[in-house]
Amino acid sequence: MKIQTMFPLAFLISNRKMLIFKTVENLQNHISQLRNKGKKIGFVPTMGALHQGHLSLIQQSKQTTDITVCSIFVNPTQFNDAKDLEKYPRTTEQDVDLLNSIKTDIIFLPSVEAVYPTNIDTSVNLDFGTLDKLMEGEHRPGHFAGVAQVVKRLLDIVQPDKLFMGQKDYQQFCICRNMIEQLQLPVEIVMCPIVRAESGLAMSSRNMRLSESEKVVAANIHRVLLATKLNFDPTKITELKTNSVFALNNIPEFRLDYFEIADGQTLLPATERSESVVACTAVFLGEIRLIDNMILL
Ligand code: PAJ
Repeated sequence: MKIQTMFPLAFLISNRKMLIFKTVENLQNHISQLRNKGKKIGFVPTMGALHQGHLSLIQQSKQTTDITVCSIFVNPTQFNDAKDLEKYPRTTEQDVDLLNSIKTDIIFLPSVEAVYPTNIDTSVNLDFGTLDKLMEGEHRPGHFAGVAQVVKRLLDIVQPDKLFMGQKDYQQFCICRNMIEQLQLPVEIVMCPIVRAESGLAMSSRNMRLSESEKVVAANIHRVLLATKLNFDPTKITELKTNSVFALNNIPEFRLDYFEIADGQTLLPATERSESVVACTAVFLGEIRLIDNMILL
């Protein structure tokens, strides 16, 4: 008797269908039913062109929540260059297959009109202090205002219990954490580790625009970050930064955008008193701009 009642349940669970929603209303109706049943919702926002890095976020969500929602939305407001937005890879069919293969529960594929309807003010006017002005902020004006806007809007739509974001975009994570704190949003933000190729190259949607030989060269970013970590001494940060900048500049194919040893909370240059420290870099390899980072302390 017991086996008979358990079997259909297991069958149902293993065949649970992935659901795809395109409208806010349909998604919210479904999620509110789940929430009423006491389910905890995990949320992974993405811009698609999915790779193992993205999938690791879904997996982490699946391990600690009941239902995982992944959004795919190429957010126009975070691109400061219209050509970049146009060129952004769109591989929705392949993405849906990948998400299905790891049993994601829900995919949200909204249109620009659904995310930014004219009757809702979606702007986020927060003061992020230094967080959005340094490093990526300095080099991509308006980018983080667009990220904050879309993440806030998606959080309002999905209302998850947990939000999973990658360490790969360390500064983006800091901005979202700060926004959640300032607005006291009822969501826990979780930082997921960087997934790397065997060579050490951090997985990124942009890697598909690199040739095989460029990928080999690009792995040097990780080598330099590793050496930075190995030689980390809080009393010799200036010297350490000089050495890492020298090593990156020494690779002829690289054009260094920035390399910083930053305080993990403020993102200002780290000091001897910093409680957490992260090395962050952006490097041009040909036309492709690659970012990476490593937590040193
Ligand atoms: P996207 O670049 O698609 O990244 C989605 C999430 O995947 C981000 O949280 C990012 O940090 C994480 N990620 C990317 N590469 C990773 C890797 N190698 N290892 C672990 N995590 C990785 O970041 C964005 O989209 C957008 O700015 C978004 C937050 C969705 C707002 O539009």
